[in-house]
Amino acid sequence: VIFSNSNIGSKTVALEIADLILRKQKEGKKCVLGLATGSSPIKVYEELVRMHKEEGLSFSNVITFNLDEYYPMDKSNIQSYFYFMHEHLFNHVDILPENVHIPNGTVKSNELHQYCIAYEKMIEDNGGIDLQLLGIGRTGHIGFNEPGSHFNSETRSITLDYITRADAASAFLGIDNVPKKAITMGIRTVRKAKRIILLAWGHNKSLVIKKTIEGEVSSKVPATYLQHHKNTTFVLDEEAASEL
Ligand code: GLP
Repeated sequence: VIFSNSNIGSKTVALEIADLILRKQKEGKKCVLGLATGSSPIKVYEELVRMHKEEGLSFSNVITFNLDEYYPMDKSNIQSYFYFMHEHLFNHVDILPENVHIPNGTVKSNELHQYCIAYEKMIEDNGGIDLQLLGIGRTGHIGFNEPGSHFNSETRSITLDYITRADAASAFLGIDNVPKKAITMGIRTVRKAKRIILLAWGHNKSLVIKKTIEGEVSSKVPATYLQHHKNTTFVLDEEAASEL
């Protein structure tokens, strides 16, 4: 779906998320959201916060699982995804702290493997993800599933691509400060979501969006795996769609 700008696109996506939360509330069920960081979803979170404050949208039945976190990374670090999510969403809505899950960048390296297995299981134990929000990196990564990621990969630690680290360099005041690793949900974890919405705004994303939507499915551009998902929508602005 192509919108004239990211404001309208973000509002439309926020509305779908709010409708899902309300529908689940009426059914007396919890709503499991898979959430993303980066600049792309910021306006969606802004709109959800507005709906909470002005329209009384409650997050009391919402359980969230974030896609990824840098590794190692302290929660108090302003570059952490933990910090980002609290700053942009969790601190401003009535979600229960125990319902928020973000990969923990402080896990000891010898416990990381078990930690990732447990993260995956926690998603399963909550009934799986109802709606997964995604951005996309210029390498074609979703979450931090860099080129080479397997179709059936699950939550794990991964080495970040140089381009990904270069794109994050300004936030870290230099590429040398960008962590070399991350924890990320896998492609399989994402693919299991019942509904997926990928957001991409701006010219910078137009080439990778073309490869993702029109290119052959390949581990070289992990986002192409979404072509096989039955309920995925790519939400773009005109600039991101300009190469299609
Ligand atoms: C990071 C995140 C991704 C995100 C990507 C794009 O690499 N791990 O989940 O999609 O950045 O970020 P942005 O939305 O700022 O372009």
